[in-house]
Amino acid sequence: MRPKGYPVLVVDDDGEMCRLLSEVLEEEGFSVTPLNDSLEASRLLRKEEFDVVITDLKMKGLKGLDLLEEVRQMASMTPVIIITAFGTIESAIQAMKMGAFDYLTKPFQMEELVLTVKKALENRLLRKEVLRLRKEVASRYDFHHLIGKSFPMQKIYDLIERISHTFSNVLITGESGTGKELVAKAIHYSGIRKENAFVAINCAAIPEALLESELFGYKKGAFTDARSDKRGLLFEAHEGTLFLDEVTEMPLALQAKLLRVIEDREVRPLGDTTSYPLDVRIISTSNRDVESFIKQGQFREDLYYRLKVIDIEMPPLRERKEDIPLLIQHFIHRFNTELKKNISGVSPEALRLLLNYSWPGNVRELENVIQRAITLSRNEWIVPEDLPSSLLPKTDDRIFEKAIENQMTLAQLEQEYIRRVLIKTRGNKSKAAALLGLDRKTLYRKLQEK
Ligand SMILES: Nc1ncnc2c1ncn2[C@@H]1O[C@H](COP(=O)(O)OP(=O)(O)OP(=O)(O)O)[C@@H](O)[C@H]1O
Ligand SMILES: [Mg+2]
Repeated sequence: MRPKGYPVLVVDDDGEMCRLLSEVLEEEGFSVTPLNDSLEASRLLRKEEFDVVITDLKMKGLKGLDLLEEVRQMASMTPVIIITAFGTIESAIQAMKMGAFDYLTKPFQMEELVLTVKKALENRLLRKEVLRLRKEVASRYDFHHLIGKSFPMQKIYDLIERISHTFSNVLITGESGTGKELVAKAIHYSGIRKENAFVAINCAAIPEALLESELFGYKKGAFTDARSDKRGLLFEAHEGTLFLDEVTEMPLALQAKLLRVIEDREVRPLGDTTSYPLDVRIISTSNRDVESFIKQGQFREDLYYRLKVIDIEMPPLRERKEDIPLLIQHFIHRFNTELKKNISGVSPEALRLLLNYSWPGNVRELENVIQRAITLSRNEWIVPEDLPSSLLPKTDDRIFEKAIENQMTLAQLEQEYIRRVLIKTRGNKSKAAALLGLDRKTLYRKLQEK
């Protein structure tokens, strides 16, 4: 190894020795600061960082061991090599115990010195690299607010990184609560469009009649209520990202119009005679089985291929259970802050229940369970009693008795019933709505009432 310009501090009150060591090390390519005043060395160490420190043990003023102690405290990764004059082996051992990298006994060969300094430098560089890698791994556990270190999540992070700098449209599929929206934001905010708008619209939550004018905008007078011009969301998203949440709920007529926008790269507001150029990346999501939707004629195949130039399938939580403890920790931290609580964690029995559950509502359900537990908990730790009954081994289904016992309101009972139906339909909101005798939009509204 050719140690080019790595800074080394040499401290020895013997001026001759100091000069000699510096010369030898300079010749090897190090950049040496020689000092024969240990107090000055101490001052310098507070201001500058060195890759290796070499110090004599016996000096006037600050002793070698004191200097060693200072380096350990201020720059714990900087290796210190001790030089001892009289072969006072006890103090050398003491120095090693205090964390010196190595020691040399005078007189020593200059080659021995050079070799030791190089070894020390190598050690430091390795330690720095380990620290850097550790930090990198740690940051991968929290990738744009996405928590998870499991293999399926690592694959998602890789994909996000690769596609964030392209313009291709992305379709994100997966069960409810798996983090589709978070991924869409991660793609936008880690890419080149991050300075521009991220415009979101939920195709399931907006009435059909409004969806078109929301997206395309209109000219004054385009229809009775159009009293002034309105800029559509497509315009708002120009040069940025348009997030079409639950795109499979979009009416067929509108699907055709959206397809034309993508193909022509221009958009014409309702009632307008001109089209305007449009540069937008579309990220859409669906928790449906899109292919069977296409077969049933509810979604256009040509639009599907335009939207899923890149497709991402979010793994359900039950297939990456090793992320559950990390997510729990993350949510405990968050709700402790939000709810001004001080919960330390979950008890082993509670953790077992959380790990054994199948999480049909995925991360969102886990988030709700932890929030509820933190609200209820009177202890330092979350225990099984703080968890909803669906997680407990033998579920007590005498729901009315329990409701009376707990003095539940009708609204609470309704929420509980909706929750159970959603569990039964594995988070499928259309099926749940059908079972409950509601339309999807009413179910959405009720879910938001929580
Ligand atoms: N990997 C994750 N790390 C941390 N939080 C997550 C993760 N995945 C999801 N969440 C949280 O779970 C909740 C649901 O996530 P999100 O809205 O992205 O899911 P979704 O797949 O869009 O669900 P839906 O299909 O019901 O709209 C959010 O509060 C989100 O912050
Ligand atoms: Mg969503």
